[in-house]
Amino acid sequence: MANAPTYDMKGKTCFMSGATSGINEQIARRFAEAGAKVFVVSRSIEKVEATVAMLKEAGAEDAAGQSVDARSYPDVEAAVQACAEKFGKIDMCLAGQAGNFPAGAAQMSANAFKSVVDIDLLGTFNVFRAAVHEANRPGASFIAITAPQATQPWLFQSHVCAAKAGVNMLVKCLAMEWGVSGVRVNAISPGPIDGTEGMDRLAPNEEMREKYRQALALKEFGNRDDIADAALWLTSQGADYVTGTILEVEGGTTLGDATLSMKL
Ligand code: HXC
Ligand code: NAP
Repeated sequence: MANAPTYDMKGKTCFMSGATSGINEQIARRFAEAGAKVFVVSRSIEKVEATVAMLKEAGAEDAAGQSVDARSYPDVEAAVQACAEKFGKIDMCLAGQAGNFPAGAAQMSANAFKSVVDIDLLGTFNVFRAAVHEANRPGASFIAITAPQATQPWLFQSHVCAAKAGVNMLVKCLAMEWGVSGVRVNAISPGPIDGTEGMDRLAPNEEMREKYRQALALKEFGNRDDIADAALWLTSQGADYVTGTILEVEGGTTLGDATLSMKL
């Protein structure tokens, strides 16, 4: 990490949904360490409060949060207003919330399918739609968290594949609409990130983990800082000509099955 770039987010306001655990919590922590004002939302008030305390400890200029279900537009809008009143105009908006469980399409209920689509896709629309009116100025950065399932069909993931494919296209459409105002909209697509809820749900035992690891070009799982680094860069001036991009930080997941690869 000796040559890792450092970022200064002092005076910047970040609104982050689903940032109270896992990958997104680490993104919030890294923005706090860079001195940002960070407002986090998710359903569990206990998780929100714990994250706000952590962010203050990590060095945020300020931190706050609210219990919000991203599926409810009025609740998201109220949280965005609370954020803007407390911290001022929004510079960075993250839509990171997601729902996932492995289930065959023939077995899952219509409500199970809808739950994931609503959390991932409608939730991302709600967060971005509500935030853009408080972030309507050049330099604002919107980031959605998508997944390899957006472009690859996966067994027992029809709900997630459909939802995340929608997220990718939403990001591109919004980038096209909002670029005229200097607002950039991108997505990060993480690969398997070790020690997260998503990995625990999709690869719950060592045998599955090892098969998964061997199929990757880089033969190792990612970590939460891999994704936080990408989010910091996408928000920085270094990425000021980047919009509508799906930034894959995924160890080669979508290149194909690399199980049979051999060392040089
Ligand atoms: C089949 C299931 C199910 C399961 C829930 N349902 N779990 N169906 N198999 N394992 C069904 C329920 O029976 C119900 O349908 C419907 O889904 C809604 O369930 P609720 O529990 O009422 O919904 P809710 O409280 O809104 O919870 C949403 C959730 C839950 C998605 C079901 O798991 C959740 O809160 N997840 C958030 C955390 C998470 O998933 N993190 C991982 C993200 S990782 P009926 O018909 O009975 O009403 C990721 C990518 C990982 O996205 C990629 C790794 C490489
Ligand atoms: P996680 O720890 O389960 O985080 C999910 C977050 O979203 C939590 O803060 C959760 O808090 C919140 N959330 C869930 N439903 C919500 C809702 N309806 N409204 C508002 N907030 C909600 O998951 P993770 O594994 O770190 O994954 C984070 C993101 O990365 C997701 O978008 C996921 O699809 C993506 N991803 C993960 C991996 C991986 O390897 N883990 C790989 C590819 C992509 P509450 O419970 O309090 O609501």
